Amino acid sequence: MTTPLAVVVLAAGRGTRMQSSRPKVLHPLAGRPMIRHVLDTLEQLRPDRLVVVVGEEMAEVSELVAPHPSVVQRERLGTGHAVMAAGATFADFDGDVLIAYADTPLIGVETFRRVLAARRASPQPAVVVLGFRPADPGAYGRLVMGEDGGLEAIVEAKDATPEQRALGLCNSGMMVACGRSLPGLLARIANDNAKGEYYLTDLVHLARAEGLACAAVEGRVEDLIGVNSRADLAAAEAVVQARLRARAMAEGATLIDPASVFFSWDTRLGRDVTVAPFVTFGPGVSVGDRVEIRSFCHLEGASVADDALIGPYARLRPGAKIEDGAHIGNFVEIKNAAVEPKAKVNHLTYIGDARIGAAANIGAGTITCNYDGFSKSLTDIGVGAFIGSNSSLVAPVKIGDGAIVGAGSVIASDVAADALALTRAGHEERPGWARAFRERKRAAKAAGRGAGAGAGAGAGERDKAKGGV
Ligand code: UD1
Ligand code: MG
Repeated sequence: MTTPLAVVVLAAGRGTRMQSSRPKVLHPLAGRPMIRHVLDTLEQLRPDRLVVVVGEEMAEVSELVAPHPSVVQRERLGTGHAVMAAGATFADFDGDVLIAYADTPLIGVETFRRVLAARRASPQPAVVVLGFRPADPGAYGRLVMGEDGGLEAIVEAKDATPEQRALGLCNSGMMVACGRSLPGLLARIANDNAKGEYYLTDLVHLARAEGLACAAVEGRVEDLIGVNSRADLAAAEAVVQARLRARAMAEGATLIDPASVFFSWDTRLGRDVTVAPFVTFGPGVSVGDRVEIRSFCHLEGASVADDALIGPYARLRPGAKIEDGAHIGNFVEIKNAAVEPKAKVNHLTYIGDARIGAAANIGAGTITCNYDGFSKSLTDIGVGAFIGSNSSLVAPVKIGDGAIVGAGSVIASDVAADALALTRAGHEERPGWARAFRERKRAAKAAGRGAGAGAGAGAGERDKAKGGV
Protein backbone atom coordinates (compact mmCIF):
# COMPACT_ATOMS: atom_id res chain seq x y z
CA MET A 1 0.00 0.00 0.00
CA THR A 2 1.38 3.44 -0.85
CA THR A 3 1.71 6.08 1.84
CA PRO A 4 -0.89 8.85 1.53
CA LEU A 5 0.57 12.20 0.49
CA ALA A 6 -0.52 15.72 1.40
CA VAL A 7 1.17 18.72 -0.20
CA VAL A 8 1.38 22.25 1.18
CA VAL A 9 2.66 24.96 -1.16
CA LEU A 10 3.72 28.21 0.49
CA ALA A 11 2.95 31.31 -1.52
CA ALA A 12 1.87 33.91 1.03
CA GLY A 13 5.15 35.79 1.39
CA ARG A 14 5.21 39.47 0.54
CA GLY A 15 8.10 39.12 -1.87
CA THR A 16 9.51 42.38 -0.55
CA ARG A 17 12.82 41.90 -2.32
CA MET A 18 11.09 41.83 -5.71
CA GLN A 19 10.09 45.51 -5.29
CA SER A 20 6.82 44.70 -7.02
CA SER A 21 3.14 45.44 -6.57
CA ARG A 22 2.33 41.90 -7.77
CA PRO A 23 2.60 38.81 -5.60
CA LYS A 24 6.02 37.27 -6.18
CA VAL A 25 4.68 33.89 -7.23
CA LEU A 26 2.78 35.44 -10.15
CA HIS A 27 5.93 36.68 -11.83
CA PRO A 28 6.36 34.64 -14.99
CA LEU A 29 9.05 32.19 -15.98
CA ALA A 30 9.00 31.13 -19.63
CA GLY A 31 5.66 32.88 -20.01
CA ARG A 32 3.69 31.48 -17.07
CA PRO A 33 3.48 32.33 -13.40
CA MET A 34 6.18 30.77 -11.27
CA ILE A 35 3.65 29.01 -9.03
CA ARG A 36 2.12 27.14 -11.99
CA HIS A 37 5.52 25.55 -12.68
CA VAL A 38 5.62 24.21 -9.11
CA LEU A 39 2.01 23.00 -9.20
CA ASP A 40 2.39 21.23 -12.54
CA THR A 41 5.33 19.30 -11.16
CA LEU A 42 3.61 18.49 -7.87
CA GLU A 43 0.46 17.29 -9.64
CA GLN A 44 2.56 14.57 -11.25
CA LEU A 45 2.96 13.06 -7.77
CA ARG A 46 -0.83 12.61 -7.64
CA PRO A 47 -1.12 13.77 -4.02
CA ASP A 48 -4.21 12.88 -1.99
CA ARG A 49 -4.50 16.50 -0.86
CA LEU A 50 -2.87 19.71 -2.06
CA VAL A 51 -3.36 23.14 -0.57
CA VAL A 52 -1.76 26.48 -1.37
CA VAL A 53 -1.13 29.03 1.38
CA VAL A 54 -1.76 32.55 0.10
CA GLY A 55 -1.67 35.96 1.72
CA GLU A 56 -4.53 38.40 2.06
CA GLU A 57 -5.27 40.33 -1.14
CA MET A 58 -4.01 37.42 -3.20
CA ALA A 59 -7.32 36.43 -4.80
CA GLU A 60 -5.49 36.35 -8.12
CA VAL A 61 -3.21 33.60 -6.80
CA SER A 62 -6.17 31.60 -5.46
CA GLU A 63 -7.87 31.82 -8.85
CA LEU A 64 -4.75 30.73 -10.64
CA VAL A 65 -4.22 27.64 -8.48
CA ALA A 66 -7.86 26.49 -8.61
CA PRO A 67 -9.26 23.87 -8.49
CA HIS A 68 -6.68 23.31 -5.75
CA PRO A 69 -7.93 24.92 -2.56
CA SER A 70 -6.05 27.76 -0.94
CA VAL A 71 -5.98 28.95 2.65
CA VAL A 72 -5.22 32.51 3.70
CA GLN A 73 -2.36 33.21 6.10
CA ARG A 74 -3.63 36.51 7.52
CA GLU A 75 -0.48 37.71 9.20
CA ARG A 76 2.77 36.95 7.42
CA LEU A 77 4.72 35.62 10.40
CA GLY A 78 7.08 33.23 8.63
CA THR A 79 7.22 29.91 6.82
CA GLY A 80 6.42 27.84 9.94
CA HIS A 81 3.39 30.03 10.62
CA ALA A 82 2.30 29.58 6.98
CA VAL A 83 2.33 25.79 7.32
CA MET A 84 0.28 26.11 10.51
CA ALA A 85 -2.32 28.06 8.52
CA ALA A 86 -2.78 24.94 6.41
CA GLY A 87 -3.06 22.75 9.53
CA ALA A 88 -6.53 21.47 8.68
CA THR A 89 -5.08 19.82 5.55
CA PHE A 90 -2.96 17.43 7.55
CA ALA A 91 -4.79 17.19 10.87
CA ASP A 92 -5.07 13.47 11.69
CA PHE A 93 -3.22 12.71 8.48
CA ASP A 94 -1.50 9.39 8.63
CA GLY A 95 0.83 9.89 5.72
CA ASP A 96 3.63 12.14 4.43
CA VAL A 97 3.33 15.91 4.22
CA LEU A 98 5.40 17.49 1.49
CA ILE A 99 6.08 21.21 1.91
CA ALA A 100 7.21 23.17 -1.13
CA TYR A 101 7.94 26.86 -1.57
CA ALA A 102 6.29 28.46 -4.58
CA ASP A 103 9.35 30.65 -5.07
CA THR A 104 11.49 27.60 -5.87
CA PRO A 105 9.90 26.73 -9.19
CA LEU A 106 12.45 24.60 -11.00
CA ILE A 107 12.46 21.39 -8.96
CA GLY A 108 11.78 18.37 -11.16
CA VAL A 109 9.38 15.58 -10.24
CA GLU A 110 12.28 13.11 -9.94
CA THR A 111 13.79 15.23 -7.18
CA PHE A 112 10.51 15.29 -5.27
CA ARG A 113 10.36 11.51 -5.66
CA ARG A 114 13.90 11.10 -4.29
CA VAL A 115 13.00 13.06 -1.16
CA LEU A 116 9.82 11.02 -0.69
CA ALA A 117 11.79 7.80 -1.11
CA ALA A 118 14.26 8.94 1.57
CA ARG A 119 11.39 9.58 3.95
CA ARG A 120 9.90 6.15 3.28
CA ALA A 121 13.21 4.26 3.60
CA SER A 122 13.51 2.56 6.92
CA PRO A 123 14.27 3.51 9.63
CA GLN A 124 11.98 6.36 8.60
CA PRO A 125 13.36 9.84 9.38
CA ALA A 126 10.63 12.16 10.73
CA VAL A 127 11.78 14.98 8.44
CA VAL A 128 13.72 14.85 5.16
CA VAL A 129 15.03 18.13 3.76
CA LEU A 130 16.19 18.79 0.21
CA GLY A 131 19.58 20.50 0.28
CA PHE A 132 21.92 21.87 -2.37
CA ARG A 133 25.31 23.52 -2.66
CA PRO A 134 25.00 26.90 -4.43
CA ALA A 135 28.20 28.66 -5.52
CA ASP A 136 27.25 31.50 -3.17
CA PRO A 137 25.25 30.27 -0.14
CA GLY A 138 24.35 33.91 0.62
CA ALA A 139 21.04 34.20 2.48
CA TYR A 140 20.03 30.53 2.23
CA GLY A 141 19.57 28.54 5.43
CA ARG A 142 22.50 26.22 6.23
CA LEU A 143 22.10 22.49 6.87
CA VAL A 144 24.01 21.39 9.96
CA MET A 145 24.84 17.70 9.58
CA GLY A 146 25.62 15.36 12.49
CA GLU A 147 28.57 13.01 12.66
CA ASP A 148 26.30 10.08 11.88
CA GLY A 149 25.34 11.72 8.56
CA GLY A 150 21.89 12.71 9.87
CA LEU A 151 20.52 16.24 9.72
CA GLU A 152 20.82 18.05 13.07
CA ALA A 153 19.44 21.51 12.36
CA ILE A 154 18.77 24.21 9.79
CA VAL A 155 20.19 27.60 10.70
CA GLU A 156 19.03 30.72 8.87
CA ALA A 157 21.94 32.83 7.55
CA LYS A 158 20.94 35.79 9.74
CA ASP A 159 21.08 33.64 12.87
CA ALA A 160 24.14 31.58 11.95
CA THR A 161 27.55 31.70 13.62
CA PRO A 162 30.51 32.40 11.26
CA GLU A 163 31.32 28.67 11.31
CA GLN A 164 27.74 27.77 10.35
CA ARG A 165 27.71 30.43 7.63
CA ALA A 166 30.79 28.73 6.13
CA LEU A 167 28.78 25.51 5.57
CA GLY A 168 28.16 24.88 1.87
CA LEU A 169 25.08 22.67 2.10
CA CYS A 170 21.97 24.87 2.03
CA ASN A 171 18.23 24.48 2.53
CA SER A 172 16.22 24.46 -0.70
CA GLY A 173 13.01 24.95 1.32
CA MET A 174 11.46 21.68 0.22
CA MET A 175 10.90 19.03 2.88
CA VAL A 176 8.80 15.98 3.66
CA ALA A 177 7.60 15.36 7.21
CA CYS A 178 5.77 12.57 8.96
CA GLY A 179 2.12 13.63 9.11
CA ARG A 180 1.66 12.27 12.63
CA SER A 181 4.64 14.19 14.08
CA LEU A 182 4.11 17.45 12.17
CA PRO A 183 1.32 19.15 14.18
CA GLY A 184 3.16 18.64 17.49
CA LEU A 185 6.45 19.90 16.08
CA LEU A 186 4.83 22.97 14.47
CA ALA A 187 3.19 23.88 17.75
CA ARG A 188 6.62 24.16 19.38
CA ILE A 189 8.14 26.56 16.79
CA ALA A 190 9.00 29.91 18.41
CA ASN A 191 9.99 33.26 16.92
CA ASP A 192 13.04 34.15 19.01
CA ASN A 193 15.32 34.76 16.04
CA ALA A 194 16.82 37.61 13.99
CA LYS A 195 13.64 38.15 11.93
CA GLY A 196 11.16 37.54 14.74
CA GLU A 197 9.43 34.96 12.50
CA TYR A 198 8.18 31.41 12.99
CA TYR A 199 10.70 29.54 10.86
CA LEU A 200 9.64 26.22 9.35
CA THR A 201 13.30 25.30 9.43
CA ASP A 202 13.13 24.96 13.25
CA LEU A 203 11.24 21.74 12.67
CA VAL A 204 14.52 19.88 12.35
CA HIS A 205 16.11 20.70 15.69
CA LEU A 206 12.73 20.31 17.41
CA ALA A 207 12.43 16.80 15.95
CA ARG A 208 16.01 16.00 16.98
CA ALA A 209 15.26 17.20 20.53
CA GLU A 210 12.56 14.55 20.67
CA GLY A 211 15.00 11.90 19.50
CA LEU A 212 13.46 11.71 16.02
CA ALA A 213 15.87 11.22 13.11
CA CYS A 214 16.11 13.77 10.29
CA ALA A 215 17.86 13.42 6.94
CA ALA A 216 19.00 15.54 4.02
CA VAL A 217 18.95 14.68 0.34
CA GLU A 218 21.10 16.71 -2.04
CA GLY A 219 19.66 18.16 -5.24
CA ARG A 220 21.11 19.95 -8.26
CA VAL A 221 21.89 23.64 -7.81
CA GLU A 222 20.16 24.75 -11.00
CA ASP A 223 16.91 23.08 -9.90
CA LEU A 224 16.82 24.85 -6.59
CA ILE A 225 17.23 28.57 -7.22
CA GLY A 226 14.98 30.40 -4.77
CA VAL A 227 13.49 33.44 -6.45
CA ASN A 228 13.58 36.36 -4.05
CA SER A 229 14.74 39.20 -6.32
CA ARG A 230 14.59 40.21 -9.97
CA ALA A 231 18.16 38.99 -10.34
CA ASP A 232 17.11 35.54 -9.04
CA LEU A 233 14.16 35.62 -11.46
CA ALA A 234 16.55 36.24 -14.36
CA ALA A 235 18.81 33.41 -13.18
CA ALA A 236 15.82 31.05 -13.01
CA GLU A 237 14.65 32.19 -16.46
CA ALA A 238 18.09 31.38 -17.89
CA VAL A 239 17.84 27.84 -16.51
CA VAL A 240 14.34 27.33 -17.93
CA GLN A 241 15.34 28.70 -21.32
CA ALA A 242 18.38 26.42 -21.47
CA ARG A 243 16.10 23.44 -20.78
CA LEU A 244 13.52 24.48 -23.38
CA ARG A 245 16.21 25.01 -26.02
CA ALA A 246 17.70 21.60 -25.27
CA ARG A 247 14.25 20.01 -25.56
CA ALA A 248 13.48 21.71 -28.88
CA MET A 249 16.75 20.46 -30.34
CA ALA A 250 16.28 16.97 -28.91
CA GLU A 251 12.89 16.85 -30.64
CA GLY A 252 14.43 17.66 -34.02
CA ALA A 253 14.57 21.44 -34.43
CA THR A 254 17.68 23.30 -35.57
CA LEU A 255 18.38 26.42 -33.52
CA ILE A 256 21.17 28.22 -35.32
CA ASP A 257 21.99 30.28 -32.23
CA PRO A 258 20.12 28.69 -29.29
CA ALA A 259 21.09 31.46 -26.86
CA SER A 260 19.14 34.07 -28.82
CA VAL A 261 15.91 32.07 -29.14
CA PHE A 262 13.39 32.46 -26.30
CA PHE A 263 10.64 29.94 -25.69
CA SER A 264 7.52 29.74 -23.57
CA TRP A 265 6.85 26.75 -21.40
CA ASP A 266 4.32 25.38 -23.92
CA THR A 267 6.06 26.09 -27.24
CA ARG A 268 5.80 23.09 -29.53
CA LEU A 269 8.10 22.72 -32.55
CA GLY A 270 7.88 19.92 -35.12
CA ARG A 271 10.74 18.07 -36.75
CA ASP A 272 13.17 19.74 -39.13
CA VAL A 273 12.07 23.19 -38.06
CA THR A 274 14.84 25.77 -38.42
CA VAL A 275 14.82 28.78 -36.13
CA ALA A 276 17.27 31.55 -37.03
CA PRO A 277 18.80 33.83 -34.37
CA PHE A 278 16.70 36.31 -32.39
CA VAL A 279 13.26 34.76 -32.36
CA THR A 280 10.83 34.94 -29.41
CA PHE A 281 8.00 32.50 -28.79
CA GLY A 282 5.32 33.84 -26.44
CA PRO A 283 2.80 31.45 -24.88
CA GLY A 284 0.53 29.26 -27.00
CA VAL A 285 2.61 28.67 -30.13
CA SER A 286 2.73 25.44 -32.08
CA VAL A 287 4.83 24.93 -35.19
CA GLY A 288 4.58 22.02 -37.63
CA ASP A 289 7.32 20.16 -39.49
CA ARG A 290 9.86 21.69 -41.88
CA VAL A 291 8.92 25.26 -41.00
CA GLU A 292 11.60 27.93 -41.34
CA ILE A 293 11.43 30.88 -38.96
CA ARG A 294 13.88 33.56 -39.97
CA SER A 295 15.44 36.13 -37.66
CA PHE A 296 13.65 38.74 -35.55
CA CYS A 297 10.21 37.15 -35.43
CA HIS A 298 7.82 37.36 -32.48
CA LEU A 299 5.08 34.73 -32.21
CA GLU A 300 2.36 34.43 -29.59
CA GLY A 301 -0.85 32.37 -29.49
CA ALA A 302 -0.25 31.33 -33.09
CA SER A 303 -0.12 28.08 -35.01
CA VAL A 304 2.12 27.50 -37.99
CA ALA A 305 1.54 24.42 -40.14
CA ASP A 306 4.05 22.29 -42.04
CA ASP A 307 6.39 23.83 -44.62
CA ALA A 308 5.48 27.44 -43.86
CA LEU A 309 8.05 30.20 -44.09
CA ILE A 310 7.95 32.96 -41.49
CA GLY A 311 9.94 36.18 -41.43
CA PRO A 312 12.41 37.70 -41.10
CA TYR A 313 10.77 40.39 -38.96
CA ALA A 314 7.29 38.90 -38.79
CA ARG A 315 4.87 39.23 -35.91
CA LEU A 316 2.25 36.54 -35.36
CA ARG A 317 -0.28 37.55 -32.71
CA PRO A 318 -2.96 35.49 -30.96
CA GLY A 319 -5.26 33.67 -33.35
CA ALA A 320 -2.84 33.73 -36.28
CA LYS A 321 -3.26 30.41 -38.07
CA ILE A 322 -0.68 29.95 -40.79
CA GLU A 323 -1.53 26.91 -42.86
CA ASP A 324 0.62 24.52 -44.90
CA GLY A 325 3.25 26.12 -47.05
CA ALA A 326 2.06 29.70 -46.54
CA HIS A 327 4.62 32.51 -46.56
CA ILE A 328 4.65 35.39 -44.11
CA GLY A 329 7.39 37.88 -44.90
CA ASN A 330 9.11 40.91 -43.44
CA PHE A 331 7.26 43.54 -41.41
CA VAL A 332 4.00 41.63 -41.57
CA GLU A 333 1.65 41.47 -38.59
CA ILE A 334 -1.07 38.82 -38.46
CA LYS A 335 -3.76 38.72 -35.76
CA ASN A 336 -6.78 36.44 -35.48
CA ALA A 337 -6.57 35.39 -39.08
CA ALA A 338 -6.26 32.19 -41.06
CA VAL A 339 -3.75 32.26 -43.89
CA GLU A 340 -4.72 29.24 -45.91
CA PRO A 341 -2.31 26.86 -47.68
CA LYS A 342 0.29 28.42 -49.95
CA ALA A 343 -1.05 31.97 -49.57
CA LYS A 344 1.64 34.67 -49.53
CA VAL A 345 1.72 37.77 -47.37
CA ASN A 346 5.25 38.85 -47.95
CA HIS A 347 5.82 42.51 -47.18
CA LEU A 348 4.77 45.37 -44.88
CA THR A 349 1.22 44.26 -44.19
CA TYR A 350 -1.37 44.15 -41.41
CA ILE A 351 -3.87 41.30 -41.52
CA GLY A 352 -6.31 41.28 -38.60
CA ASP A 353 -9.64 39.42 -38.21
CA ALA A 354 -9.45 37.86 -41.64
CA ARG A 355 -9.33 34.81 -43.81
CA ILE A 356 -6.80 34.72 -46.62
CA GLY A 357 -7.83 32.03 -49.10
CA ALA A 358 -5.46 29.38 -50.34
CA ALA A 359 -2.82 30.58 -52.80
CA ALA A 360 -3.98 34.20 -52.53
CA ASN A 361 -1.29 36.84 -52.95
CA ILE A 362 -1.36 39.87 -50.71
CA GLY A 363 0.67 42.77 -52.08
CA ALA A 364 3.09 44.92 -50.12
CA GLY A 365 1.51 47.44 -47.81
CA THR A 366 -1.96 45.87 -47.69
CA ILE A 367 -3.98 46.78 -44.62
CA THR A 368 -7.14 45.13 -43.37
CA CYS A 369 -8.99 48.04 -41.72
CA ASN A 370 -10.64 45.86 -39.10
CA TYR A 371 -11.46 48.37 -36.37
CA ASP A 372 -13.72 51.39 -36.42
CA GLY A 373 -12.87 52.52 -32.92
CA PHE A 374 -15.71 50.45 -31.43
CA SER A 375 -15.81 46.99 -32.92
CA LYS A 376 -13.82 44.60 -35.06
CA SER A 377 -15.02 43.36 -38.45
CA LEU A 378 -13.95 40.57 -40.75
CA THR A 379 -12.17 40.61 -44.09
CA ASP A 380 -12.67 37.52 -46.20
CA ILE A 381 -10.29 37.06 -49.14
CA GLY A 382 -11.08 34.24 -51.53
CA VAL A 383 -8.97 31.45 -52.92
CA GLY A 384 -6.41 32.66 -55.46
CA ALA A 385 -7.32 36.34 -55.04
CA PHE A 386 -4.68 38.97 -55.76
CA ILE A 387 -4.55 42.14 -53.68
CA GLY A 388 -2.46 44.86 -55.31
CA SER A 389 0.09 46.71 -53.24
CA ASN A 390 -0.87 49.47 -50.83
CA SER A 391 -4.54 48.57 -50.72
CA SER A 392 -6.84 49.17 -47.78
CA LEU A 393 -9.61 46.63 -47.27
CA VAL A 394 -12.29 48.25 -45.13
CA ALA A 395 -14.00 45.51 -43.12
CA PRO A 396 -16.52 43.98 -43.17
CA VAL A 397 -15.65 43.15 -46.75
CA LYS A 398 -15.41 40.07 -48.93
CA ILE A 399 -13.11 39.63 -51.91
CA GLY A 400 -14.30 36.75 -54.09
CA ASP A 401 -12.22 33.82 -55.27
CA GLY A 402 -9.80 34.78 -58.03
CA ALA A 403 -10.63 38.50 -57.85
CA ILE A 404 -7.96 41.17 -58.39
CA VAL A 405 -7.77 44.41 -56.44
CA GLY A 406 -5.77 47.08 -58.23
CA ALA A 407 -2.82 48.57 -56.37
CA GLY A 408 -3.52 51.56 -54.17
CA SER A 409 -7.24 50.84 -53.83
CA VAL A 410 -9.52 51.47 -50.87
CA ILE A 411 -12.08 48.66 -51.02
CA ALA A 412 -15.16 49.18 -48.87
CA SER A 413 -17.66 46.99 -50.79
CA ASP A 414 -17.62 43.30 -51.63
CA VAL A 415 -15.85 42.26 -54.83
CA ALA A 416 -17.29 39.42 -56.93
CA ALA A 417 -15.27 36.35 -57.79
CA ASP A 418 -12.90 36.85 -60.74
CA ALA A 419 -13.67 40.60 -60.96
CA LEU A 420 -11.18 43.47 -61.02
CA ALA A 421 -11.83 46.19 -58.48
CA LEU A 422 -9.90 49.37 -58.21
CA THR A 423 -10.39 52.80 -56.75
CA ARG A 424 -7.83 55.20 -58.04
CA ALA A 425 -7.56 58.92 -58.91
CA GLY A 426 -7.24 59.58 -62.66
CA HIS A 427 -3.82 59.72 -64.24
CA GLU A 428 -2.71 63.19 -65.43
CA GLU A 429 0.40 63.69 -67.54
CA ARG A 430 1.99 66.84 -69.03
CA PRO A 431 4.59 66.10 -71.65
CA GLY A 432 7.91 67.99 -71.10
CA TRP A 433 6.68 69.79 -68.01
CA ALA A 434 9.42 68.45 -65.74
CA ARG A 435 12.22 69.50 -68.06
CA ALA A 436 10.77 72.99 -68.43
CA PHE A 437 10.41 73.27 -64.69
CA ARG A 438 14.04 72.37 -64.05
CA GLU A 439 15.30 74.80 -66.70
CA ARG A 440 13.19 77.60 -65.25
CA LYS A 441 14.53 76.94 -61.75
CA ARG A 442 18.14 76.77 -62.84
CA ALA A 443 17.81 80.00 -64.81
CA ALA A 444 16.22 81.80 -61.86
CA LYS A 445 18.98 80.63 -59.53
CA ALA A 446 21.70 81.73 -61.99
CA ALA A 447 20.11 85.20 -62.24
CA GLY A 448 20.18 85.46 -58.42
CA ARG A 449 16.46 85.67 -58.14
CA GLY A 450 16.17 82.65 -55.86
CA ALA A 451 13.58 79.94 -55.96
CA GLY A 452 9.85 80.40 -56.27
CA ALA A 453 9.51 83.00 -59.08
CA GLY A 454 8.21 81.57 -62.31
CA ALA A 455 10.39 81.71 -65.43
CA GLY A 456 9.57 80.17 -68.76
CA ALA A 457 6.32 78.41 -67.83
CA GLY A 458 2.87 79.91 -68.30
CA ALA A 459 0.85 81.50 -65.46
CA GLY A 460 -1.02 78.26 -64.69
CA GLU A 461 2.25 76.36 -64.54
CA ARG A 462 3.73 79.02 -62.23
CA ASP A 463 0.92 78.56 -59.72
CA LYS A 464 1.41 74.83 -59.64
CA ALA A 465 5.15 75.22 -59.12
CA LYS A 466 4.71 77.32 -55.97
CA GLY A 467 5.77 75.46 -52.88
CA GLY A 468 7.54 72.78 -54.89
CA VAL A 469 6.26 69.87 -56.91
C1 UD1 B 1 13.61 30.21 2.94
C2 UD1 B 1 14.20 29.35 4.07
C3 UD1 B 1 15.69 29.18 3.84
C4 UD1 B 1 15.93 28.56 2.47
C5 UD1 B 1 15.25 29.37 1.37
C6 UD1 B 1 15.29 28.59 0.07
C7 UD1 B 1 12.88 29.71 6.08
C8 UD1 B 1 12.82 30.35 7.43
N1 UD1 B 1 13.95 29.96 5.34
O1 UD1 B 1 14.19 31.49 3.02
O2 UD1 B 1 16.24 28.32 4.84
O3 UD1 B 1 17.32 28.46 2.24
O4 UD1 B 1 13.86 29.60 1.68
O5 UD1 B 1 14.84 29.35 -1.00
O6 UD1 B 1 11.98 28.96 5.74
N2 UD1 B 1 5.98 32.39 2.86
C9 UD1 B 1 4.69 32.32 3.35
N3 UD1 B 1 4.38 32.98 4.49
C10 UD1 B 1 5.31 33.67 5.21
C11 UD1 B 1 6.62 33.72 4.73
C12 UD1 B 1 6.93 33.07 3.56
O7 UD1 B 1 3.83 31.70 2.72
O8 UD1 B 1 4.94 34.23 6.25
C13 UD1 B 1 6.31 31.68 1.59
C14 UD1 B 1 6.82 32.62 0.50
O9 UD1 B 1 5.75 33.03 -0.34
C15 UD1 B 1 7.81 31.75 -0.26
C16 UD1 B 1 8.30 30.75 0.79
O10 UD1 B 1 7.36 30.78 1.83
O11 UD1 B 1 7.20 31.04 -1.32
C17 UD1 B 1 9.68 31.09 1.32
O12 UD1 B 1 9.68 32.39 1.90
P1 UD1 B 1 10.88 33.41 1.69
O13 UD1 B 1 10.56 34.64 2.45
O14 UD1 B 1 11.20 33.53 0.27
O15 UD1 B 1 12.04 32.63 2.47
P2 UD1 B 1 13.60 32.76 2.18
O16 UD1 B 1 14.12 33.96 2.83
O17 UD1 B 1 13.86 32.57 0.75
MG1 MG C 1 12.62 32.59 -0.91
